[in-house]
Amino acid sequence: MLYAARHRLSIGESKQSMVELDSVIKTYTLGQQRIVAVNDVSLTIQPGEFVAIMGKSGCGKTTLLGLIGGLDRPDSGTISVNGEEISQLTDADLTRYRRDQVGIIFQFFNLIPILTVAENVALPYSLQGKSEREIQARVQELLSDVDLVERQTHYPHEISGGEMQRVAIARALINKPQLVLADEPTGNLDSRTGHQVMETMARLSEQHRTTVVLATHSSEAASYATRKLHMRDGSLSSAEEST
Ligand SMILES: Nc1ncnc2c1ncn2[C@@H]1O[C@H](COP(=O)(O)OP(=O)(O)OP(=O)(O)O)[C@@H](O)[C@H]1O
Ligand SMILES: [Mg+2]
Repeated sequence: MLYAARHRLSIGESKQSMVELDSVIKTYTLGQQRIVAVNDVSLTIQPGEFVAIMGKSGCGKTTLLGLIGGLDRPDSGTISVNGEEISQLTDADLTRYRRDQVGIIFQFFNLIPILTVAENVALPYSLQGKSEREIQARVQELLSDVDLVERQTHYPHEISGGEMQRVAIARALINKPQLVLADEPTGNLDSRTGHQVMETMARLSEQHRTTVVLATHSSEAASYATRKLHMRDGSLSSAEEST
């Protein structure tokens, strides 16, 4: 709750919104069936906001995050992130956008099993061609942030689920993204571990004034957000309107 209050105070400071969606539509066609996964969504998110998108399975949360994260393109409508219209980027620029400006955290962690904890965290930074010294310094800083310094030489199968998710958070933050997208980050964790992971995300988001968009079924996870939106059959409404 404290996080929410502090975040709200900081929202008015900035003029440039972080994420802006205007009439975004995304459909999938499977055989004869046409599925409108995201149905005419317009949404503005300010820098530093922590927004939860809630809604039942199949309502379009992952599709929406994928569009904002540049993993997919909309059929129509525009998506701007930090003033840049990502729906207009070339494939190469979109890849750069994903690598440099967005951190993505998935439900199933997506760690690389043959790399250690430290190597998993370092990976996106290594791809930017940083020196070994820079990489090490940044990795140690992040491992300390997520309280995993002592597990850094372990492999993913040698740590717990909550620890894996904290590795994924550190990895998502290594390039200092302004925007973090988290898709059910607590979906595979027990409720206590889920709270720890959400605490870590909320603390880091507050420290670095990172904008977070979280997709979740869990009202407990969503309670860490400064704003809750509800998604139903591809459409968004504020959580208050939907209840
Ligand atoms: N690649 C695809 N091809 C066809 N249909 C798809 C594809 N991906 C998703 N869908 C459909 O689009 C709709 C939205 O899916 P999406 O994965 O965004 O939902 P979700 O809200 O993330 O669900 P969950 O909570 O189960 O993760 C669903 O009806 C789904 O079946
Ligand atoms: Mg999903």
